[in-house]
Amino acid sequence: MVRIMTIKVAINGYGTIGKRVADAVDAQDDMEIVGVTKTRPAFGCDLAVRKGYPIFCTYDDADRIAAFGAAGYTCHGGLSDLLEIADIVVDCSPGKVGASNKEKYESAGIKWIFQGGEKHAMTGNSYTSSANHTENLGVEGTRVVSCNTTGLSRTLVPLYEHCGSLSVECTMIRRAADPGDSSKGPINAIKPVLKVPSHHGPDVMTVKPEIQINSMAVAVPTTLMHVHVIVATLPEGHGLTTESVLSMWNARPRIVIMNGSETGITTTAEVMEFARDIGRKWGDLHEIFVWEDGVKLEGNTLYYFQAIHQESDVIPENVDAIRALMNTEPDWMASVAKTDAAISSYNHL
Ligand SMILES: NC(=O)c1ccc[n+]([C@@H]2O[C@H](COP(=O)([O-])OP(=O)(O)OC[C@H]3O[C@@H](n4cnc5c(N)ncnc54)[C@H](OP(=O)(O)O)[C@@H]3O)[C@@H](O)[C@H]2O)c1
Repeated sequence: MVRIMTIKVAINGYGTIGKRVADAVDAQDDMEIVGVTKTRPAFGCDLAVRKGYPIFCTYDDADRIAAFGAAGYTCHGGLSDLLEIADIVVDCSPGKVGASNKEKYESAGIKWIFQGGEKHAMTGNSYTSSANHTENLGVEGTRVVSCNTTGLSRTLVPLYEHCGSLSVECTMIRRAADPGDSSKGPINAIKPVLKVPSHHGPDVMTVKPEIQINSMAVAVPTTLMHVHVIVATLPEGHGLTTESVLSMWNARPRIVIMNGSETGITTTAEVMEFARDIGRKWGDLHEIFVWEDGVKLEGNTLYYFQAIHQESDVIPENVDAIRALMNTEPDWMASVAKTDAAISSYNHL
């Protein structure tokens, strides 16, 4: 008889990414949420209660744990108690607090996944399903790359696999803040990232080192999505046309291609309205959106635009990364299909 293992998943940091990863994990039949952490009994605890996720305190101090009870929430203990009952922890804490959390995961002896706000140098491994699922099979820990790196990989990796080499320049037009974030900007300016090249393009090389890529970035006053303006140089004899590039992307998971002039979806506002129309939770769009009429291959140069829903493209990647680390699904396409089928069914409830 085949034993079906249910992977016990802890979420450390129940914010924008953490609450989405929790629901995506909860929708799968091979994993379950054993607890989520909050730093204090505030915004977010009611959501966890409604979803039936046990709440733990981010810290182990008795006073902080007791504060939850005083505010009317059942707190099942501190982070150490949560790590004891989990097989793997998905760290969704704010970027750059990872190093101290990693020590806690290592002493608890469980597997760990960080997010794109942490550096590859801290985790030693990075993950995105389309690029390097196999390299992450069975490893102790990894980092699901950022929303931008995930988006770039979705369209560039298949191109690289066809061409055997690829050189890319891209400009990242970045949202200023997430919709639920009241503390960031700019609200009336365009802010160039004065570190050149920006980290976004080179970060692709943490999951696909063979792709030569550089990027520049600007932050603009919008909260909805990022847009990438991409110019890729293909090698001589690539044998592709604009149409065959589109067919290649169409055959890959988590890429949506639509014609702007035909559909009227010409800006990120309409892309997000489309996402809300299809009934995804939080109005999420896990797929990368490519405008068909914005793609053009001229000789060896491919030009295209793509839009990234920053809060959600990495969510299914975390589910696939759990399967890679737990070594329960060696085939990335099989994992992606399983993840997406489960998320779609809950999306349409
Ligand atoms: N938002 C995006 O668009 C996006 C996209 C891709 C990747 N990421 C990456 O995902 C990670 C999480 O980002 P986010 O946008 O979800 O941040 P967020 O909305 O600020 O949520 C972070 C959560 O972590 C909790 N927290 C604070 N300190 C912690 C600690 N020391 N240990 C554990 N949890 C702690 C916070 O707790 P309380 O609420 O309980 O106080 C908060 O709920 C970052 O690495 C970020 O770069 C973000």
